[in-house]
Amino acid sequence: MRSLDRCLLALRLSGGLLRDPSSNHVPFVGSEFPDAEFDRLRELLLARRGFDLGMYKDRCVKRRIAARVRACGFNAALPYLAWLEHNESELDALLAAITINVSQFFRNPSTFQALQQEVLPALVKNARAAGERRLRLWSVGCASGEEPYSLALLVEVLQVQDLEIEIWGSDISAPALVQAAAGYYDEQRLGEVPAALRERCFVAEGRGLRLREEIRRRVKFQQQDILGEGAYPRAALILCRNVLIYFSRGDQERILRRFANALGAGGYLVLGRAETLLGEIRQRFAAEYPEERIYRCLPEP
Ligand SMILES: C[S@@+](CC[C@H](N)C(=O)[O-])C[C@H]1O[C@@H](n2cnc3c(N)ncnc32)[C@H](O)[C@@H]1O
Repeated sequence: MRSLDRCLLALRLSGGLLRDPSSNHVPFVGSEFPDAEFDRLRELLLARRGFDLGMYKDRCVKRRIAARVRACGFNAALPYLAWLEHNESELDALLAAITINVSQFFRNPSTFQALQQEVLPALVKNARAAGERRLRLWSVGCASGEEPYSLALLVEVLQVQDLEIEIWGSDISAPALVQAAAGYYDEQRLGEVPAALRERCFVAEGRGLRLREEIRRRVKFQQQDILGEGAYPRAALILCRNVLIYFSRGDQERILRRFANALGAGGYLVLGRAETLLGEIRQRFAAEYPEERIYRCLPEP
């Protein structure tokens, strides 16, 4: 018997896997993952995926881990952890569940309208006035690519010839980035794409739609942990939507400070609808379109 099978058998015998509800076994995993096992899981994810759970807000994350434990058929944390140590694909699935990578094209369409009508033209004008040749737009926590590709579609419409507009998409999740690079989506993700753009930029394939290669080529994807020490690239526009909500207040402030430095005066930052600027860093930004969470970076005092 292979060691994994032996391990599973032992778990079943010890009551780790879900049992008949009529049995008197008391489940240990309720709606939240217990604290003691959380530390062990943290060590495991750090060692095997270089991912630090400690950076994430506790309750929300513990609930997602508990849901994953139950979905795998366990009713206690310890046997799940023992099983996880031998299960690479579950490590990836757990990471994806913790960091949830759900997105869609032109999510919050009015935000993209403001980007198209106000922000991008302003950035292009300023770059021309400053004699710059290149503009970088960066989507942080880009999940499966819908957000940076939405920027690429706006750029396609903008038709700027005299500037190179570079679009970057970064995320911590390698599987999400593989999906992003493929540029293949089901109908649901495209609900907000205007019909003309859909016609022009997507090709029907199987049960879904694939972005044309020339649009896909506009976006460079890169794996990056935004909480890590790696340098942030210089950018004229940063979209970091529905990512900061997972982090502690201290980490949010640290990231926002780094965004301000990466943008410099005149750059724009876009946050998610449930996110806002925190702490002293508010002084570095003007809320240009507050409802859309679009902020312009000010010169350093
Ligand atoms: C809900 S999705 C947001 C997708 C997109 N920005 C949007 O608003 O539609 C959150 C993304 O943040 C990514 N994420 C979570 N923690 C991260 C980290 N530490 N560094 C980089 N990306 C992270 C997740 O992998 C996930 O793809």
